[in-house]
Amino acid sequence: MSEERRKAIGTILEAGFQMESDAFKALMENSSAGHLDPLVKEVLRVAGTVEPRPASISRDLVLKAAEHLSLSGKTPETDHSGLGHGRRFAEDLESRLEVVSDPTGKLGTTGSFDDFLRYFRSRFDKMSLLFRQRMDTRNAGTISDALSGGSNGRGRFICMVLDKRERGDRIFLTVDDYEDEATVLVGRQNSTLYEMARKIVRDQVIYIQARKSAGPLLVAESIILPEIPDRKPAHANEEIYAALISDVHVGSKVFLEDEFRRVLSWLKGDIGTPNQRDVAERVKYVLIGGDLVDGIGVYPRQEVDLAVPDIYEQYRLAAKFVSEIPEYVDVVLIPGNHDAVRQALPQPAIPKDFAGPVYDSRKITSLGDPAEVRLHGVHFLLYHGTSLMDILSGVPGLDYQRPVEVMEYQLRARHLSPEYGKMTPIGPEQEDFLVVERVPDVFTSGHIHVSGAGVYKGTTIVNSGAWQGQTDYQKRMGLIPKPGILPVVNLKTLDVKMINFQ
Ligand SMILES: [Fe+2]
Ligand SMILES: [Fe+2]
Repeated sequence: MSEERRKAIGTILEAGFQMESDAFKALMENSSAGHLDPLVKEVLRVAGTVEPRPASISRDLVLKAAEHLSLSGKTPETDHSGLGHGRRFAEDLESRLEVVSDPTGKLGTTGSFDDFLRYFRSRFDKMSLLFRQRMDTRNAGTISDALSGGSNGRGRFICMVLDKRERGDRIFLTVDDYEDEATVLVGRQNSTLYEMARKIVRDQVIYIQARKSAGPLLVAESIILPEIPDRKPAHANEEIYAALISDVHVGSKVFLEDEFRRVLSWLKGDIGTPNQRDVAERVKYVLIGGDLVDGIGVYPRQEVDLAVPDIYEQYRLAAKFVSEIPEYVDVVLIPGNHDAVRQALPQPAIPKDFAGPVYDSRKITSLGDPAEVRLHGVHFLLYHGTSLMDILSGVPGLDYQRPVEVMEYQLRARHLSPEYGKMTPIGPEQEDFLVVERVPDVFTSGHIHVSGAGVYKGTTIVNSGAWQGQTDYQKRMGLIPKPGILPVVNLKTLDVKMINFQ
């Protein structure tokens, strides 16, 4: 046994851990000569974070430490020659990218009263159709039926919420449909119903069963959200991956350039453990979910947070990064609220006038926000996430550190921005593009700079975090980001790996 190996084992024993035999093997396999010391340190660091403290070091723990170390840039490049530089799995695989929906070229509101009317009618009609397709809500009547006593003094109807007031332990919803308006009371006696009503916001379209009370008042007996059905998602036949990048914020003083460069090195097969390199060579799609650059004038006093105060230069720099993504990978780009395009949702694709260098850097599929694509048969809903903060401030029980729950809320409401007219600008288009008409297999957003993944009724939900550290603005707002983590979706299993480049 070499002196270096003897020393490594000595250090681990001294720290009070036993060493399982396959862990020792993993330790040797994942470190080349002269690089054992940093890996041992990382193993001990990771072991120190495990609760309860393990008695011995396992193979899994060593692999976890090695994966983190090799992407964090804390160790010199390990040499796995030949692994990343032959022909790669995704290179020989034909791309199967289909665009399912894209608002680009379909937008053009004048903001007139008629436009608003048409917009809300489109929302109501699309959501009504969702209810009409469900067994339990397809026989909905109207508000007018319910007000005239319905059958046995009860009525069932689809309605839009115009207003919500909470008075003591009662909630009053003012609702309407095409013909009528009514006030619906939700009392505290039924606590499930009451909690549900607390989470309902203005402009949401819901289904209510109610009992007629005195005058124009209805008393709610049940409320049903449009929801998504429980289902088995589609999947690819091959083990290939989509890497989800968003909120790069090129041009910001706190753009995590080193970490982001390591993502590109990993994609190219230059860094990573053998396992990580195996995933990298199977990445066929990179989805960029908005806020590619930091932009200018997006929030008050942004100039103090900018390293590059010129929007054209920001896109020129971003283009250099984008050009480094291997050419056999398909790149899909949508805008965010920091990009140089109209701010009102839906946003069209970022125009070439600003992002020209990005378009010239490589082949790119540039779409609006939101957009839907099918990748090897897997249906993705891509949405930057601009309304997530509005939902967080309007719905009790949600927390921006748990983005998956906020995105679940959107799926249940079947709408990406249920409440109109808060901080999220929405263009009153002829059609409401923010209704979730088709149930996605994968629903992905960014914007709140906190990564996370989960599954809701068969749909994989991913928030892709950010590549920007905490800005002064976020400090003032008390927002703590969780950047530097890359979610990678296995299109065969829809499992999500969170790869830490910090
Ligand atoms: Fe962002
Ligand atoms: Fe954003």
